[in-house]
Amino acid sequence: IDLQPYHSFGLPQSASKFHQVNDVAQLAELRASMTQKPYWLGEGANTIFVEPIERPIVKFVGQQVTLEHATDAVLCHVLAGKDWHQLVTELVAQEIGGLENLALIPGSVGAAPVQNIGAYGVELADFCRYVDIFDWATGEHRRLTAEDCLFGYRHSVFKTPDASEWLITAVGLVLPQQWQPKLSYSGLESLSQQQGLTPAQVMAQVVAIREAKLPDPKLLGNAGSFFKNPTVTNQHAAQLARQYDNMPSFQVAGGVKVPAAWLIDQLGWKGKGVGGAAVHQHQALVIVNRGNAQVKDVVSLAWQIKQQVAQVYDIELIPEVRFLGAHSELTLEQAYA
Ligand code: EPU
Repeated sequence: IDLQPYHSFGLPQSASKFHQVNDVAQLAELRASMTQKPYWLGEGANTIFVEPIERPIVKFVGQQVTLEHATDAVLCHVLAGKDWHQLVTELVAQEIGGLENLALIPGSVGAAPVQNIGAYGVELADFCRYVDIFDWATGEHRRLTAEDCLFGYRHSVFKTPDASEWLITAVGLVLPQQWQPKLSYSGLESLSQQQGLTPAQVMAQVVAIREAKLPDPKLLGNAGSFFKNPTVTNQHAAQLARQYDNMPSFQVAGGVKVPAAWLIDQLGWKGKGVGGAAVHQHQALVIVNRGNAQVKDVVSLAWQIKQQVAQVYDIELIPEVRFLGAHSELTLEQAYA
């Protein structure tokens, strides 16, 4: 099948075996009939298929949302196939706040824990109570606590080899009744002056900020931030600060976080590209498909950026996007080779 409609970059690629399942019973049936271990696919909002895919692809499409109103919180059980932004929109429409800063993040609910999606000072881990998984190795369906998920910045247990056979089937969220808006991120601060602020108002502001900077994948294929924001040592940061006095940076545990967008922007990449792939005009951390990009254009552009950032700043950029090869996941180096 043609994978172009199954990922947000919209690059030409094919897969030999593709299965959609609705529930755990269908998953178990499929497992019994298959010898090869599959790839799991959500909405493909963070995925590049590097080569024609030989491994079977399984997409979990169940979307049910179950709400349980407890005294101090709303417990929300969501099947993995639900669109994330649709979930946020539905909750906010019911005046259930918490996820509004994460509005408009592309992708499915099942993909959200994998990279611990985050934006505007909030991340999934802040609200996640559990993740249900189907273990392809054993056929068992079980629940991981939030602690088991080992959430970190754009990281979780689901990116580790331990989880290579786990398919996420549902996510459990806890949304406190006592809503606390998070307005620390620049662009949201002004809302703190507002009387009677609602989750819907915060969500509207987040949507406006994102729409101004980030390309709509339906119009211009992309996978959001292409690289993670790197953390450098305090010493390295001090040295960079002497050289580049306008470099933004944030002290974090373990060093100093530097916006990858700034590094790439300084090197003059905005609007430039390789073939049909280009660095977005309004956000240097996003690579877009100008319409006719081939996989090799995107990979070679990302590779050039990574090389130049390493040369100029001595910083290693690590992709946030995932590269799937014919049989296994690849690093950017392997995808480029
Ligand atoms: N900047 C530039 N040039 C640019 C864009 C940004 O110099 O073209 C500088 C600015 O100084 C700005 C700083 O970089 O203050 C940070 O930029 P921005 O606020 O746009 O956020 P980001 O660090 O590039 C991260 C997430 C986004 C998330 C936003 C908002 C990562 C890898 N990315 O981007 O997440 O929406 O913050 O919270 O952490 C994603 O993961 O796909 C994603 C879009």
